[in-house]
Amino acid sequence: MGGSGLVVQDASVGYGPVRALRQVSIEVPDGAVVAVLGGNGAGKSTLLRAISRTLAFHRGALTTGSIHFGGRRIDGLHADRVVAAGVSQVPEGRRVFARMTVADNLRAGALGSAGSRAAKARALERVHELFPVLAERAGQRAGLLSGGEQQMLAVARALMGSPKLLLLDEPSLGLAPLMAARIADTIQEINAQGTSVLLVEQNAALALRLASRAYVLDVGEVALAGPADELSASDEVRRRYLGVVDETAAADASRGVSALPVLRRWAGRR
Ligand SMILES: Nc1ncnc2c1ncn2[C@@H]1O[C@H](COP(=O)(O)OP(=O)(O)OP(=O)(O)O)[C@@H](O)[C@H]1O
Ligand SMILES: [Mg+2]
Repeated sequence: MGGSGLVVQDASVGYGPVRALRQVSIEVPDGAVVAVLGGNGAGKSTLLRAISRTLAFHRGALTTGSIHFGGRRIDGLHADRVVAAGVSQVPEGRRVFARMTVADNLRAGALGSAGSRAAKARALERVHELFPVLAERAGQRAGLLSGGEQQMLAVARALMGSPKLLLLDEPSLGLAPLMAARIADTIQEINAQGTSVLLVEQNAALALRLASRAYVLDVGEVALAGPADELSASDEVRRRYLGVVDETAAADASRGVSALPVLRRWAGRR
């Protein structure tokens, strides 16, 4: 199969009778940040689960297609072998082991990796540099961290396996803008250090800023694909995913002219 990096070809996924992905093809070249956008239920998490081989935990299965990483077919492997092959997923909802300490969460992240003791020590050093707060709170229970800090811990735990490719499922979800921006900076830093990233986001503005290439999933199919800057400029993406409303209405609004009847009614009551 051509190319290194990740190549998903014609992947279809079903959860029993529910067809969640249809013939989806995406690529993440080595060293790239690639974004997958799409609304609720579009199939974004399903795509990541297909890659990380965790679909079975959700009673789903790949029904057609193939997935290669680094030239090697991975869609027949067990989830732990995919991790060993260099692909780590940070699942939706920043799941950490709440009752375990921060340090033990990180130790758990290194369990699946094939790395030596020295490699694991280096990985810990690296995540402490990326997230100093996790070093400060090493002995604290993970459940006591803030939402943003838990997301950092979830990312850090995945990095403990020193992955070549990191799969991130909506890392900014539910975070305040400032915390989301910090997570975005960290993703950039992780990538600069040589890890490829497949980033699933509903925050399209954030994702398109980080990614070189993006795909839009719509009801289980790739509806749009292209360089991130081209997608950022496309009307459909601006309207549907970047929250840019009709331009004349926006211009009217900024000049104080209400374009919305409901607002006019409110204004008339004064
Ligand atoms: N375990 C499951 N069993 C049955 N159907 C599922 C399961 N998980 C997801 N689905 C269905 O598959 C489709 C895709 O869901 P998925 O979670 O991949 O979407 P998503 O793009 O990640 O959405 P969100 O933005 O809400 O996280 C949806 O129709 C969903 O209802
Ligand atoms: Mg999801």
